[in-house]
This record gives sequence, structure tokens and C-alpha cells, in this order.
Amino acid sequence: MGSIGNKTERGAKLPFVFINMAMTADGKIATANRTVSSFGSHRDYIELLNLRATADAVMAGARTVDLNSVTMGPGPIQFRRRRMKHGLAEYNLRVVVSRSGSVNPEAEIFKHRFSPIIILTTRRATRQRLECLRALADEVRICGDTEIHFPKSLRWLREKWGVRRLLCEGGGEVNDALFRAGLVDELHLTVCPKIFGGRSAPTIADGTGACCLDQATQLDLKSARAWKNEMFLVYQVMKVGPRTARRRGATEISGEGSSPAR
Ligand SMILES: NC(=O)c1ccc[n+]([C@@H]2O[C@H](COP(=O)([O-])OP(=O)(O)OC[C@H]3O[C@@H](n4cnc5c(N)ncnc54)[C@H](OP(=O)(O)O)[C@@H]3O)[C@@H](O)[C@H]2O)c1
Repeated sequence: MGSIGNKTERGAKLPFVFINMAMTADGKIATANRTVSSFGSHRDYIELLNLRATADAVMAGARTVDLNSVTMGPGPIQFRRRRMKHGLAEYNLRVVVSRSGSVNPEAEIFKHRFSPIIILTTRRATRQRLECLRALADEVRICGDTEIHFPKSLRWLREKWGVRRLLCEGGGEVNDALFRAGLVDELHLTVCPKIFGGRSAPTIADGTGACCLDQATQLDLKSARAWKNEMFLVYQVMKVGPRTARRRGATEISGEGSSPAR
């Protein structure tokens, strides 16, 4: 991928931010009781690894990290080779977002030490929790009093840790904060042929959300590809106001058997 780390993706200071999520046809990313959140095909999993192979860092919220047995790593050797071929470190950095520092110290991610783990938190985290997290992570960064200041945090990730491409893998609460802060550049969405239902089942953007149409994040469909019963969609986020610089490109739509865009 020739565009890895390309400055034209985003100005000099912020990383290029892309989100990757799988959702059911009714827009859910997990069941209401949170026990099922992995429901995509093997093809979807490969696409997740393909995207990770282009990212300096993978980021997720505290509940995504501690409710699942995730390592947020690059996967098998062929994906790591691809990273190195494009000038990336063999293993991506891992970033965990936890406002109150409540992330479970027993979470699987902390048992895998192949690359640095960075925790972004706020002054809401007690001293005791901070001490515990500092023993687990390579760096714990306090990024605000009660809420994480994402623009500052992302700038810091770029400056201190060299993160030019940041892949966010949810959950809904963290995604929503990034969308509301206008920090997302691209959304990769796999629509899976299932209905979970459930009013309290999480979606790709929960949190506080928009309260009027003007606040909605506007998307530009870049590609839509079907593979068996799944749809692989890639949206570019349309920037408004001073950030209006997005070019509307041709949308690719193709059918069964073609390879997905990512
Ligand atoms: N299908 C998929 O592709 C997919 C992908 C990812 C996750 N999931 C599923 O989605 C569910 C988790 O989603 P979720 O929305 O409940 O949780 P989440 O976004 O993963 O994590 C929520 C936690 O992250 C921290 N957080 C969120 N927003 C924050 C902000 N603006 N500033 C600072 N900290 C913030 C808070 O941690 P503290 O409580 O520590 O303050 C919050 O409790 C799980 O069931 C997971 O398995 C599905």
C-alpha cells in the first residue's frame, strides 16, 4: 500500500484514523448481553488483519479489551512481513482507552508482550488504578480531567510514538467520541447476515451521539463489495468547515466473488 504514512492523508500533526467494525444487518456490534461480538466470516477476519497490517497502532476501548480475548496484534508472519515491507514495525503498537482506568488487569492483551501497550486515561482514574495500570502498560497517559481530549492524545501518539495511521477497533463508545471530535477519516464496515435485536445491544457509535442532523457525521461511499452473504463497505468521512478538503471519488460497487476493497 503506497499510501502508508502519507502526509497527504491528514496534516502533519494528527494520525490518519480509520475504524473497522463488523455489524449485523440490524446495526449491532454485539448481543445485548455482550457475550457474542465475533460473528463475521473468516474473510472478515482476514480483512481485519489486512487493515492492521497498514496501521502503526491499533486502538480499542476498555470494554472491547476486557470483555474479549483480544491481543490486538498483527497476526501471522505473512502480515508482519507485509508491514515491514512497507516500512512499518513488525508489530503494531496497542492503545487502550479507559476514562476511569477500569480496564481489567487480567485482560488477555496484557499477557502478550510483543509490542508496547499504551493506556489513555483521565484524572478520574484513582491513584491505585493508575499504579496497577502502570505496572501492566508501557505508558499510561493522562489525557484530560474527566474526558479524554482525543485531538491532543492523537497528536501526542504521533509525536511521541510515531503513529501515522491509527486503526480503531471500537467499541461503540470510543468510536462515537472519535466521530464527534471529527477525527475519523475512514470507516470500514462489514455487514453480516444476522439480526441480533435488543435495544441495549451496542452499535458502531454509541456514547452521547448527535442531537440534530447537522451534527451527524457525513459519509461518502468509496466501495461496496459483496462476498457470499457479507457486504464490505468503505466510507470516507466527509469533513465540514475548515477541514473541507475531501475529494468525492468514484464509488466502486461489485458483486459476489470479488475481493473487498481493504
Ligand atoms: N463487532 C465488532 O466489530 C466489535 C468491535 C469492537 C467491540 N465490539 C463489542 O462492543 C462491545 C464494547 O463496546 P462498548 O461501546 O460497550 O465499549 P468500548 O467503547 O469498547 O469501551 C467503553 C469504555 O471505554 C472507555 N471510553 C469510552 N469512551 C471514552 C471516552 N470518550 N473517553 C475516555 N474513555 C472512554 C470507558 O472506559 P472506563 O469505563 O474504564 O472509563 C468506557 O467504559 C463489546 O461487547 C465488544 O465485544 C464489537
